[in-house]
Amino acid sequence: LTQIATEVRACTQCGLCKTRTQAVPGVGTARGGIVFVGEAPGADEDRLGEPFVGRAGQLLDKIIKAMDEAQLIPGLPLDRQSVYICNVLKCRPPENRNPLPHEIESCSPYLRRQLAAIHPRIICCLGKFAAELLVGVEGTIRDLRGKIYRYQGAKLIVTYHPAACLRNANYKRPVWEDMQLLAREYLSD
Ligand code: URA
Repeated sequence: LTQIATEVRACTQCGLCKTRTQAVPGVGTARGGIVFVGEAPGADEDRLGEPFVGRAGQLLDKIIKAMDEAQLIPGLPLDRQSVYICNVLKCRPPENRNPLPHEIESCSPYLRRQLAAIHPRIICCLGKFAAELLVGVEGTIRDLRGKIYRYQGAKLIVTYHPAACLRNANYKRPVWEDMQLLAREYLSD
């Protein structure tokens, strides 16, 4: 992971290297076997070099803390450091626009290598870009969530991006149901 992070910070594979302040490789550890994959850094992440540190990140922290407090996975304390958090794109798209197909194509090898290095038990895709990349099908979160997929031996689930929950509080309940699903699947076989 350290080696990949070093390469990410020096990456010039796409045009986003010209507009970024810094690249954002990821944060956390492989130990817990849980990975959250978001979309791309925003302004706060670009400034601080760490994923999910802005408003959406604070909500993700709250979700992880709630999982910990509910002891969804007994014996595994859950916080930012016991999971791994990263994004499909490692650099901020200008004005937080959606990732472009060629950017995803250039950047996704880093994510795939991170996942190969972590060898997680379960991956949680936050939002459409992570879901479509790692599940390999197009669809809405509504259609994709609630199911167990496989990615290179890991289980994989899909849920709404925390930024979507900030825009629409109706997504909060399904996200919590998805976290319960994540825990059940983490604990089974
Ligand atoms: N949104 C993301 O998808 N990733 C971040 O790191 C921050 C916000």
